[in-house]
Amino acid sequence: MDEQKLHQIVHEADNVVPRPTPKEFYEKQPRKSLQNLDDYKRMYKESIEQPEKFFGEMAHRFLSWDRDFDHVKWGSLKEGVISWFLGGKLNACYNCVDRFALSTPDKTAVIFEADDEGECRKLSYQQLLFEVCKLAGVLRSWGVKKGDRVAIYLPMTPEAVIAMLACARLGAVHSCIFAGFSTGAIRERIFDADAKVVLTCDEGKRGGRITHTKELLNKALENCPDVEKVLVYKRTGNPEIEMVEGRDYFWQDEVREYPGYIPPVSMDAEDPLFILYTSGSTGTPKGVVHCTGGYLLGAAMTTRYVFDVQPEDILFTAGDVGWITGHTYSVYGPLALGAATIIFEGTPAYPNMGRFWKIIEKNKATHFYVAPTALRMLKKSGEAEISKYDLSTLRTLGSVGEPIAPQIWEWYDEKIGHHCCHVADTYWQTESGSHLIAPLAGAVPTKPGAATLPFFGVDAVIIDPTSGKIQEGNDVEGVLAVRSSWPSMARTVYHCHQRFLNAYLRPYPGYYFTGDGAGRDHDGYYWIKGRVDDVVNVSGHRLSTSEIESVLLANKKVSEDAVVGISDDLTGQAVIAAVQLKDPHIADDEDSLLALRKELRMTVRKSIGPFAAPKSIIIVHDLPKTRSGKIMRRIIRKVCSGEANGIGDTSTMINPEVVDHLIKAVEQQFGVKN
Ligand code: PRX
Repeated sequence: MDEQKLHQIVHEADNVVPRPTPKEFYEKQPRKSLQNLDDYKRMYKESIEQPEKFFGEMAHRFLSWDRDFDHVKWGSLKEGVISWFLGGKLNACYNCVDRFALSTPDKTAVIFEADDEGECRKLSYQQLLFEVCKLAGVLRSWGVKKGDRVAIYLPMTPEAVIAMLACARLGAVHSCIFAGFSTGAIRERIFDADAKVVLTCDEGKRGGRITHTKELLNKALENCPDVEKVLVYKRTGNPEIEMVEGRDYFWQDEVREYPGYIPPVSMDAEDPLFILYTSGSTGTPKGVVHCTGGYLLGAAMTTRYVFDVQPEDILFTAGDVGWITGHTYSVYGPLALGAATIIFEGTPAYPNMGRFWKIIEKNKATHFYVAPTALRMLKKSGEAEISKYDLSTLRTLGSVGEPIAPQIWEWYDEKIGHHCCHVADTYWQTESGSHLIAPLAGAVPTKPGAATLPFFGVDAVIIDPTSGKIQEGNDVEGVLAVRSSWPSMARTVYHCHQRFLNAYLRPYPGYYFTGDGAGRDHDGYYWIKGRVDDVVNVSGHRLSTSEIESVLLANKKVSEDAVVGISDDLTGQAVIAAVQLKDPHIADDEDSLLALRKELRMTVRKSIGPFAAPKSIIIVHDLPKTRSGKIMRRIIRKVCSGEANGIGDTSTMINPEVVDHLIKAVEQQFGVKN
């Protein structure tokens, strides 16, 4: 963590006056979820002091239970046992589909905006139920039952939503794999989750291009012998797609045989709903496990209270179901409230920079939720496209995935929201399941750049990382942790509870450790600084430096490497790799250096995905190391950022002479002067 910067952030916050939700917000939708800040404070207090009462009532208000729960909250972070709503039984698919198919069957549930502008499809709740049941029928006939893992490797199409809900209907645990992942990452996730069935499509469409979904999956499955069945949705219908006999079947052919209704399987509240892999600072990606009752309640409550989503609303979350944002705010949150969700297949830049705005105008979207990286790009592209569209239906603008700079926040508020929207910077994580810190619509005044105040049940604390002590009061900074469990918190890492304990519960015993640095200003508002571990956030994509390092190391020419993240104007952070070669002469001339860099970048693209490819690869003679042989990434990060003056203490370094070499290499190859 850059402590100086953090000081500055908290200090600057002194001058920021909190802004109330604009009155136009409620002129557009007069029903109020919350009346004012006192409402928030009263409910927050109750959620912390009497969680059983508070969340017991919320669970009854937001969800339909097949059997009522016996205990609201059970276990403790100290023991590493977290349970909510024990004894309760429910089905997530029933809660997100059947309830509304019964009460408002013709109401739109899913709006599909395809990559090609002309292609749009709507599914009512009744139609969604039909499609989900048909797919669940196929899965059931293949022997998929409660607790089985099903991998979903699908782009942002309604089929991804249908696939998740069909699994949930049967009690099978879905594990979505981001469609931008390549072979190595797909294989690793399918293998780790022990998935026997994969749901996918032939090809995807994105930004005017075809993506080779099935081809990549085929390669990944070469090393996943346990996968027995693959269901392939014909998205483009390309007849050349390679199908493996006896394993691969076409979705549209198979669903024909199955009825439009099959009953949902009643699940225990603590039964897993899904696994989602995420990068940590060490080891392979962690399969974060979320459970049915608590997760669904967190999704529904935050969607209602942070965004103020009502059943008549249309929410456009420009995320991806391959990440947690897509799970919670494209699928489970809006559907659990009976609202409509826009599923967008494409990119903000295709066919032009007006695509998001066109989708909002066309569908009269009321809520828009996106990562700051997209906002930075759109701001840069100018206002011509924005002014062409009527965005007046919008009520809430959300931001997620990385810190939002105050000037981007202001731009979002002014140019997209016309100062009439609730602007919510939402801080949370794959592990938290739903928002941890975010302003509640109509109740919590906002400050540009601040995530503001914790959500109900989130007992946020700031810990001094050196002493491990809780920082009481305001105007403090340190690392962010949570004192007690909240309903949508992850329960474990799939088949490795020790990793869960080590990553989240052991660093500060009795607390959940977020991995982020943060400050709390004089109003008690939280300002998130970013990761304090080796996780890099590129365009809102969470990447582990060690994962990229091992992919580079697999190249025979590389003897050692270190990957770091440095600030980047457009992508938030950028991946930089410092690589030491077995034969240093390989890179002697410009052409072979160029070819080598291309090859290394390609290795990462092919193995993890294009978004993980290093922006720059610096060839070095040696890497800075401690006496015990640990690579000192901090030094590489500082030098690559042009801050060699601030590298601090080098007394533990075994090879201090490397710093000068590194400074030279960075200047020559990366153009950054120190
Ligand atoms: O570092 C924080 C950053 O994203 C991390 C979580 O990444 P992931 O699990 O992929 O989930 C992203 C979508 C929730 C966090 O540890 N992060 C997320 N939201 C914010 C943020 N950093 C600052 N401000 C945010 N609003």
